[in-house]
Amino acid sequence: MARSLLCLRSRSSTGDMFYLVLRPNESRDMRFWPACPPSFRTSIDRYSTETAKVARCLLEFMAKHLGVEPESLLEMFHGQSQGLRMNYYPPCRQANKVLGMSPHTDAAGLTLLLQVNGVPGLQIRKDGKWLALDALDGAFIVNVGDVLEILSNGKYKSVEHRAVVHPNRERISAAVFHRPCQDALIGPLPELVKTTAAKRGVIDVFSYVLCWDW
Ligand code: OGA
Ligand code: NI
Repeated sequence: MARSLLCLRSRSSTGDMFYLVLRPNESRDMRFWPACPPSFRTSIDRYSTETAKVARCLLEFMAKHLGVEPESLLEMFHGQSQGLRMNYYPPCRQANKVLGMSPHTDAAGLTLLLQVNGVPGLQIRKDGKWLALDALDGAFIVNVGDVLEILSNGKYKSVEHRAVVHPNRERISAAVFHRPCQDALIGPLPELVKTTAAKRGVIDVFSYVLCWDW
């Protein structure tokens, strides 16, 4: 795929973003992978392998929790498509007047977010109110994306979230998105709609996820 990197600053957000396609491996376009610092490529490669393992493990647990065969969920993520967005939010003295990243849900299946330099800023919307997340040191924040909400027939909810900026500290976060195969049509898992009505419709991953998570 041609779209292997995107670097943008949107009008409603003050952060800078740097996006890399990590998996499948053949979608990597190394022209866009920084060669400096020299450890960058190997570190990201390793990070990609390890986060893919964590995501697989979490999907397996989620399938068990949903009462479906793990394979029926895992096969939707066959090929382990994965993208990385690194976010840089500069400090802003009028932090209460701007947003680092505007409210959205993640389109992909599962997001593993790391608040890299320990500066908090992620907020989720719950019962109409924005709640700040207190991340544990060194822990991932795991976010369910729209695709997983659809596959689970609404049992797992894709949470609306946003990022705020800090008045005098820069903030860096890294979000790894795990997506289903790009040529898949996604709807509620058949095992979940045997006796319950489908609460979510079918989407075409290519046009839905690939257009929205970038
Ligand atoms: C994202 C995201 C939040 C953050 O990259 O999709 O929600 O805290 N980031 O940077
Ligand atoms: Ni997000």
